[in-house]
Amino acid sequence: MPGFPGRAIPLRDGRTVFLREIRPEDLPAWEKMILACSPETLWRRFECRSTQTVLARKDDLFDESSVVIVAELEGRLVGEARLCLLPGRAAEFCVLVADPWQGLGLGSALIDFALELAKSLGLQKILTEIVPENARIVDLLRRRGFQFSVEEDGLTHRGELTLPG
Ligand SMILES: CC(C)(COP(=O)(O)OP(=O)(O)OC[C@H]1O[C@@H](n2cnc3c(N)ncnc32)[C@H](O)[C@@H]1OP(=O)(O)O)[C@@H](O)C(=O)NCCC(=O)NCCS
Repeated sequence: MPGFPGRAIPLRDGRTVFLREIRPEDLPAWEKMILACSPETLWRRFECRSTQTVLARKDDLFDESSVVIVAELEGRLVGEARLCLLPGRAAEFCVLVADPWQGLGLGSALIDFALELAKSLGLQKILTEIVPENARIVDLLRRRGFQFSVEEDGLTHRGELTLPG
């Protein structure tokens, strides 16, 4: 996967966050970010409340089929978004902002950056799976054109966005 240029984004509190591709040397900062997440935030993103289990999945960050964007603020990593590439010009999308930095506009910025990147990579379909108690992200993604359906078991909201070709 070729690299992509980063971007500086102003946050609601006046600070500037830098969105860029993850690098191998980011791993300690990524681990610190995960340690700053509440079990509820981890559940909404990873469907798992255990910090240790999430930390053990660190190799996924550098998987060839994943595009990982990180948000860097004042030398720390504070959020990430991923596009996990699937066959047929599709990708699964997910996003995380660590608790102390939620509500500053970072989640919205990561989503917009990831969708722009998806278009530039020629992707046509973006898929996502959301746990039912996560109305906030469903609302954010609906406003960006995602359509949601609920699995028969009522436990998973599946979102799909078709990007213009
Ligand atoms: C969902 C998530 C990414 C949003 O990130 P964020 O940085 O807090 O989002 P923003 O600051 O851009 O705010 C997004 C919207 O939520 C609203 N919001 C912010 N804080 C809120 C709160 N505590 N309660 C309710 N709404 C809130 C904002 O007003 C904003 O609405 P607007 O677009 O109308 O202004 C973040 O909460 C998160 O990481 N959650 C856990 C993981 C997750 O749910 N991932 C998605 C599944 S893959």
